[in-house]
Amino acid sequence: MRERLRNAAIRVITRGYRCRILKPLIWKYVTQSKELRFHVSDAPRGNSEQFRKEIASLFEYFGFSPDQLANKTVVDIGAGSHLITSFFRDAKIVAIDPLANRYLKEIPSCGLRKAHKIYSCPAETRIEGLESAADFAISINVLDHAYEFEAIIDNIYFYLKPGATAFLSFDCHDYITTLHPIDLSVERCKKTFESAGFSITKVSRGLGPALPCAIPLGSAYGDGEAFSFWLTKPKA
Ligand SMILES: C[S@@+](CC[C@H](N)C(=O)[O-])C[C@H]1O[C@@H](n2cnc3c(N)ncnc32)[C@H](O)[C@@H]1O
Repeated sequence: MRERLRNAAIRVITRGYRCRILKPLIWKYVTQSKELRFHVSDAPRGNSEQFRKEIASLFEYFGFSPDQLANKTVVDIGAGSHLITSFFRDAKIVAIDPLANRYLKEIPSCGLRKAHKIYSCPAETRIEGLESAADFAISINVLDHAYEFEAIIDNIYFYLKPGATAFLSFDCHDYITTLHPIDLSVERCKKTFESAGFSITKVSRGLGPALPCAIPLGSAYGDGEAFSFWLTKPKA
């Protein structure tokens, strides 16, 4: 009985996600509430040495090193509660996350306290003060959790300095779940990046051996298959 009710609720939510008006409401009140609960319960893991090692090996797997962005402005889209981009030593991290204020309030050890600036809003909202401010933009395991992919990509383009790079890594899947409101195919992503004005400089698949909690091991953050895109904003 419980299982049947649960499946019915999931069906209602995923159908609601197909409706333009309901989508941001379901995202805010259902999906993001689940996300917040997860982060609050996950706080001890985020504080552990083991987690820091896993994150460092994930960044190194992608080819990043801790000192490469010292004194640079890095916009982290969907920064989360652990602020994993603090991997980049001495970078000025500008964290954007709609749950930022809730994380700060409910998680005493919240990593966001290390950020240079915090915007507690969805990445779909354009922050005018960040126009051409970023030397680098990064987003890890977020874009399939959001609700308006195209608007976010346009905003990332707006935040980058000419010639700067964005690194976007997330799961692609052709279905919607309660935690993943957007069905993203690789084709849709590439089309959106190019329409925003980006050149796609590299695409990689999977997560390698870096993240032991990936499901199934090495292939996705949670659902579908992980893809990572390196994008460049043209110089002129
Ligand atoms: C799975 S967590 C990943 C957090 C972080 N990037 C990390 O890897 O630790 C997903 C994050 O995306 C955020 N998120 C969901 N929808 C978003 C949106 N529309 N704009 C920006 N962030 C969003 C959530 O609040 C959550 O913190």
